[in-house]
Amino acid sequence: MTGVSFRNLTKSFGQHTVLDDINLDIDSGEFVVLVGPSGCGKSTLLRMLAGLEPISDGDLLIGGVRANELPPQKRDIAMVFQSYALFPHLTAAENIGFGPKIRGESAAAINAKIKDAAAILNLDAYLERYPRQLSGGQRQRIAMGRAIVREPKVFLFDEPLSNLDAQLRVQMRTEIKALHQRLKSTVVYVTHDQIEAMTMADRIVVMNHGKILQVGAPLELYDRPATKFVASFIGSPSMSFIAGSIGLSATRPYFETASGEKLSLNGARQPAAGPVEAGIRPEHFIIRDGADALRLKVDVIEPTGSETHIYGTIGSDQVRAVFRDRVSVRPGDILPVTADPKNIHLFDKATGLPV
Ligand SMILES: Nc1ncnc2c1ncn2[C@@H]1O[C@H](COP(=O)(O)OP(=O)(O)OP(=O)(O)O)[C@@H](O)[C@H]1O
Ligand SMILES: [Mg+2]
Repeated sequence: MTGVSFRNLTKSFGQHTVLDDINLDIDSGEFVVLVGPSGCGKSTLLRMLAGLEPISDGDLLIGGVRANELPPQKRDIAMVFQSYALFPHLTAAENIGFGPKIRGESAAAINAKIKDAAAILNLDAYLERYPRQLSGGQRQRIAMGRAIVREPKVFLFDEPLSNLDAQLRVQMRTEIKALHQRLKSTVVYVTHDQIEAMTMADRIVVMNHGKILQVGAPLELYDRPATKFVASFIGSPSMSFIAGSIGLSATRPYFETASGEKLSLNGARQPAAGPVEAGIRPEHFIIRDGADALRLKVDVIEPTGSETHIYGTIGSDQVRAVFRDRVSVRPGDILPVTADPKNIHLFDKATGLPV
């Protein structure tokens, strides 16, 4: 197995720098998920790793060896795309066996590989069908089968599940995770799906504007986001931000909104000079009245069965709260809410850095 390292990696298209000084070490066998807004450079980074896009500056190491100029076919990397890119005129089996066939492997060897891949991916029943006779999930598994028979050191996935319906996504997510545990290969996986990122990754890499903002285990990013951007990007539904300031009473510090509503903070916190934003995740709101509560004006109530989602405003800030219980409120009602001090994230309004 093989690790991958990016050292001061930069990519420009003409004057436009799309990846800026990327530094990252991916361990052999690690499952790393790249997330970030559209256009931040995720696919470009994968394509550079696969050898499909030249590197402008810096170094790419595969298995500790500089690989900047190594041709794609010598990199031992297989990439699975969002569009499955199957050959329509070949059966599932022929699609899976295409690579080994091109390499001139014997019919017996190719058949053995197809059989193995089909067993791993539960495809035995579909091998003689053409792509048009298969469902999206089955086609995606053929595309994965084609990657598996290459026995690559590194798998790259670029939003492989985004064309599938919700139920199939969940199923494929579990299958890819099981596949990784079984093959123990290094995986770099791009997704827009929060749950995929949180549940599949050993580590998540959060990118924005061609830069890496934070790298860490999913719950590490969730609990200790390094910036407001990461806080807002990780977690679904996303964190709400309420503008205000930090004050200090005789006993303990508090967060105060423009209209004078207060939330108690942890005792260890120092008052901040400038304006701040309090970040609270939807599931961390608690319905409780008292001196220490914010007034949430309810706009929309969404009962999902297992949870109640409430959209509204605190002051002029949009917030979203999720409660495990049924909540009987109506649009226009005021709901008093608070949060445990340990679940209140404070960010400097100007810099977006934690206070
Ligand atoms: N061949 C190219 N020529 C010029 N600019 C390009 C080229 N390929 C990509 N870009 C630009 O590079 C930036 C990064 O693109 P990339 O496809 O890596 O984004 P992404 O993070 O994968 O986005 P998405 O989530 O939408 O797939 C974008 O601004 C894009 O317009
Ligand atoms: Mg992309």
